[in-house]
Amino acid sequence: MERFRIKNVFSDGIAGHKITVCGWVRTKRESKGIAFIALNDGSTQDILQLVIPGETPAFQKLPHCNTGAAIKATGTIKDSPGKSQKIELEVSEIEVFGDADSATYPLQKKGHTLEFLREIGHLRPRTNTYGAVFRIRNIIADAVHEFFQGRGFIWIHTPIITSSDCEGAGDLFTVTSLDFDKLPVKDEGGIDFSRDFFGRRAFLTVSGQLEAEFLAMSLGDVYTFGPTFRAENSNTSRHLSEFWMIEPEIVFADLNDDIRLAEDFIHILCLKVLEKGESEIAFLEKFYKNTSINELKVLAEKPFVRISYTEAIKELEKAGKQFEFPVKWGLDLQSEHERYLTERVFKGPVVVTDYPEKIKPFYMRLNEDEKTVAAMDVLVPKTGEIIGGSQREERIGVLEDRMRQIGIPGENMEWYLDLRRYGSAPHAGFGLGFERFVQYITGMPNIRDVIPCPRAPQTIKL
Ligand code: 4AD
Ligand code: MG
Repeated sequence: MERFRIKNVFSDGIAGHKITVCGWVRTKRESKGIAFIALNDGSTQDILQLVIPGETPAFQKLPHCNTGAAIKATGTIKDSPGKSQKIELEVSEIEVFGDADSATYPLQKKGHTLEFLREIGHLRPRTNTYGAVFRIRNIIADAVHEFFQGRGFIWIHTPIITSSDCEGAGDLFTVTSLDFDKLPVKDEGGIDFSRDFFGRRAFLTVSGQLEAEFLAMSLGDVYTFGPTFRAENSNTSRHLSEFWMIEPEIVFADLNDDIRLAEDFIHILCLKVLEKGESEIAFLEKFYKNTSINELKVLAEKPFVRISYTEAIKELEKAGKQFEFPVKWGLDLQSEHERYLTERVFKGPVVVTDYPEKIKPFYMRLNEDEKTVAAMDVLVPKTGEIIGGSQREERIGVLEDRMRQIGIPGENMEWYLDLRRYGSAPHAGFGLGFERFVQYITGMPNIRDVIPCPRAPQTIKL
């Protein structure tokens, strides 16, 4: 079907041309024998005004062009005398693909709450808000590839089903084809996963990092961008059970290189959003006020503040504030602490480095003090942690010691240790939570509003 995307109608300067557009009716009104339809096709924030003169055959179709209807309209682009738009389509023909029953169509002209719209996940992308969010999501996803490809990184695909259960990043979902009515049981008790599909217990991945490491140790700088899964029972506005993660892994590189990469990455992603999604951000700024073009402009350039975990603890102790969770060297930073540091102390993104080894995974490189590891978290206002990363332990002896201390079974990890046996090299990487970042950029209050089909505890409706 020949059709113009509405986005191109506005960007292509086509006044006087005869074109066809398709889309969904937002509103329809009639006055003095002339009708107006506001049409959106999802390609842009903008609405195209259709003007349907009374004498046209198109006018006869109006009873079937209710709010929500899918239609095709052909006509001529004209300069609009109206104030709210520059151009409009003077329509001669309309074809109705599917009308919508105005008595039951859930999206009415009045605004809806985000909670209500979450209940109709299959229709919410038709609203201005979710249209904007999902287009921004696309801009960022595209910019991710542009950024890494432009720097010579190789895009690799790490598995979704994995047998490695040692990230320590939270609870895992088990993947099984066992018959729940006849579960095989071991003599000593417990389920016998050797009789499961893969011959051992398998999980949905929590991170592609470990596999990205072996690919980086052969191909050089690589990145993976895929879905990850965590079965932790976190019912918060920043946790999903299924979320996407972007994980670069760089070789012949240390923690400083890793931080610099993260900083450049965030800056470029913000620039791309400003370049390609300005009208979406402007809309979200106007209606929700949790994001702004000016804020993004600052973010696109502002160097990240760098502090060590030890300094961060000192800042929090200095705060003289009663936090809900205790502040003490050795304890992990909670969301309230992260927000205090970014919103009150530093007023912008902060990179916290060198966390106590006891609260970080086994693969992070042990620092000389033997108490901390070469870790880095990027924290931002409102959202808290958006990036977690580290330099990896490349010294086999130190790695084996740590695995032993933490109680990580070595037998499935021989391949990981091999990377340290044969041509080990300093390397580092990080994971950017894609939805956390989209949430931060769009200012949506709940992470469930930046992914089309959110999965969270007790939530898998669509
Ligand atoms: O800090 P995390 O657990 O780091 C890793 O998984 C490393 N293996 C990454 C690496 O070095 N390659 O997770 C990375 C990021 C977090 O900073 C956060 O943005 C996001 O993933 N994240 C979540 N996003 C949404 N819902 C959840 N439940 C999340 N858990 C982590
Ligand atoms: Mg983390």
